[in-house]
Amino acid sequence: MNIVVTGGAGFIGSNFVYYELANHIDDTIICYDALTYAGNLETLDAAMKNPKFKFVKGDITNREEVNALFKNEKPDIVVNFAAESHVDRSINNPDLFLRTNIMGTCVLMDACRKYGIKRYHQVSTDEVYGDLPLERPDLFFTETTNLHTSSPYSASKASADLLVMAYHRTYDLPCSISRCSNNYGPYHFPEKLIPLMIINALHDKKLPVYGAGENVRDWLYVEDHCSAIDLIIRKGKAGDLFNIGGHNEKRNIDVVKIILKALDKPESLIEHVTDRKGHDRRYAIDPTKIKNELGWSPKINFDDGIKKTINWYLTHKEWWEHIISGDYQEYYKTMYGNRAKL
Ligand code: NAD
Ligand code: DAU
Repeated sequence: MNIVVTGGAGFIGSNFVYYELANHIDDTIICYDALTYAGNLETLDAAMKNPKFKFVKGDITNREEVNALFKNEKPDIVVNFAAESHVDRSINNPDLFLRTNIMGTCVLMDACRKYGIKRYHQVSTDEVYGDLPLERPDLFFTETTNLHTSSPYSASKASADLLVMAYHRTYDLPCSISRCSNNYGPYHFPEKLIPLMIINALHDKKLPVYGAGENVRDWLYVEDHCSAIDLIIRKGKAGDLFNIGGHNEKRNIDVVKIILKALDKPESLIEHVTDRKGHDRRYAIDPTKIKNELGWSPKINFDDGIKKTINWYLTHKEWWEHIISGDYQEYYKTMYGNRAKL
């Protein structure tokens, strides 16, 4: 089979490329990526040596480029990871998020209709469900929880999900959707909590925790997300929707303290700063459906996953040093330079 992985030069997409190359050696994997600030060809260095892998630079919002991709590569399956993915950036620049995340999805699915496809899979997020109250640990997101978004990012992802469902119903396009909780692991761009805190701690720089740090995220090691998507595209039915998560809820402040302890750095590096606007309080996925219907379960618990992740950042300094030496410095100044300390 020919599998197009859009956004395959980013964090989860690249892990998925490696997962597919390792687990389905007969399939050809075509990564289609615009190489925005979040896309990185160095991440795909090892894949480039594999004859079953191909990289095509292109933008999912560009119909001509997308149609050429379909004409040339004749994909059986498209897995759409390409997106603007950072909530903080969406608060400063919503327009780009709507264009990439909604229009990009529309353009890809139009090409699927035009050229024919066995499956279009939309990689969505638990953020489409909004948040849960901190004082109700008994509540979880299920596939039937109402969409209730908080940020321009999550609103754009929820809109894309609705569009996917509409294409399935109206045009009978064979689509599926997965909504996963927070991922962590190798190749995570250092604007996100875990890599940012690891890298700041290694530099003895302050660790900027938003507000009191009591917001809860439900962490899943990236490889477990990849194995779930792999099952959905191969065993799930068209029209299916699955939540993905492993019941690994943690308060941000506790994640930061775990990182400091692992790196033998003092907690005095923690700095509480102005909160994110509209900050979601708690995410928590109920993964019962994918467990029961497809037999999926996560393999890596948080204690092991965070050790593996920290070790990866310690042994891949070149990868993140290249990133933080570029435009990232400007980004960091804009996001954190004027943030009041609490
Ligand atoms: P990322 O920001 O690390 O990577 C995004 C990739 O998409 C980059 O390689 C970028 O170059 C590419 N891209 C952006 N705009 C593009 C365009 N117009 N055309 C082609 N390529 C483009 O993102 P990520 O964290 O790997 O997330 C991947 C997907 O998974 C996203 O759809 C996100 O919403 C979803 N998701 C992420 C998480 C998480 O914890 N990171 C959890 C659940 C779902
Ligand atoms: O839940 C899935 C989502 O997880 C994905 O859809 C998004 O693409 C992904 O970015 C992630 O969103 P979050 O907003 O949860 O991730 P982030 O790493 O930005 O933040 C995690 C938590 O840490 C959140 O409560 C905000 C907080 N935070 C984050 C940063 C970057 C801080 O306290 N300080 C920081 O500097």
